[in-house]
Amino acid sequence: MIRTFITGDGSLGLYNVELDEIYHSKFGAKTEAYEKFVEPVLNIKNPRILDICYGIGYNTKTAIEYLNNIDFIDCIEIDEALAKNSYKYEYSDSVNKIIEKNLKNPDFIHFYFEDARKTVKNLNKKYNIIFHDGFAPYKQPELWSEDFIFAVINLLDKEGIYVTYNHSKPVLNALNKTGITIGKTIKNDKYIGTIASFNSDLIKNKLSDFEIEALNTKSAITYKDKDLSLNSLQILNNRKKEIEKSPLITLSAFIKKKKSNSVI
Ligand SMILES: C[S@@+](CC[C@H](N)C(=O)[O-])C[C@H]1O[C@@H](n2cnc3c(N)ncnc32)[C@H](O)[C@@H]1O
Repeated sequence: MIRTFITGDGSLGLYNVELDEIYHSKFGAKTEAYEKFVEPVLNIKNPRILDICYGIGYNTKTAIEYLNNIDFIDCIEIDEALAKNSYKYEYSDSVNKIIEKNLKNPDFIHFYFEDARKTVKNLNKKYNIIFHDGFAPYKQPELWSEDFIFAVINLLDKEGIYVTYNHSKPVLNALNKTGITIGKTIKNDKYIGTIASFNSDLIKNKLSDFEIEALNTKSAITYKDKDLSLNSLQILNNRKKEIEKSPLITLSAFIKKKKSNSVI
């Protein structure tokens, strides 16, 4: 069951009762779509967008509102009914009309109503913008496993930008393993999300050496889902076992060690 609530900027947010998980930031659903997803990609020309976890489409709608000359947008959402009603949720009439038209008769926006793990395996295009907006990893790790992230990053153009709200260590670690340059999305001095590109010139606030080194700790052990087929519980349990057996130090031990080294 899905409930609605009003977020901090007055825009509507959704809450999934079974998962006990919100779809949108309580501080502002529309603000989140702009600040974490669209503002970091404002300079990309002729956007070819992959919107993973479309939901009610705030990220796609905000992209349509702020980006020019969009080539195409591919949206993935497992909850078909939710996405098919997305044009009824608040946004400007002009943008909602574009969504409604494309849902009924796809023009430049295409929808994949299925598990994103299946879609990313089958897509063979390159995107210059990828939005990744799954539920939190401790609820739905299948959309944050290193194997899923490798498949997603494989779809990113060399000059493209990947963005997500997520900046947890396992996700940063998975991204780091692809060799991509990772940066922080910063707003009002707050670290609010992650941006990554193979063109390091496109990344302003790169992760520091310290932050990269901290990925070699237990807390950064990635979620694994080799065949993109495990369920959430299996992925969480396997990671727990891997952490228990791991010879890596904990994040707090790493920080302590670094602090003591800098004093000496
Ligand atoms: C955090 S919400 C995304 C909110 C969305 N970006 C919006 O603007 O409304 C996560 C979304 O992922 C969808 N989802 C969950 N598991 C999925 C999966 N395996 N594949 C594709 N979508 C999935 C949920 O139905 C939900 O709409």
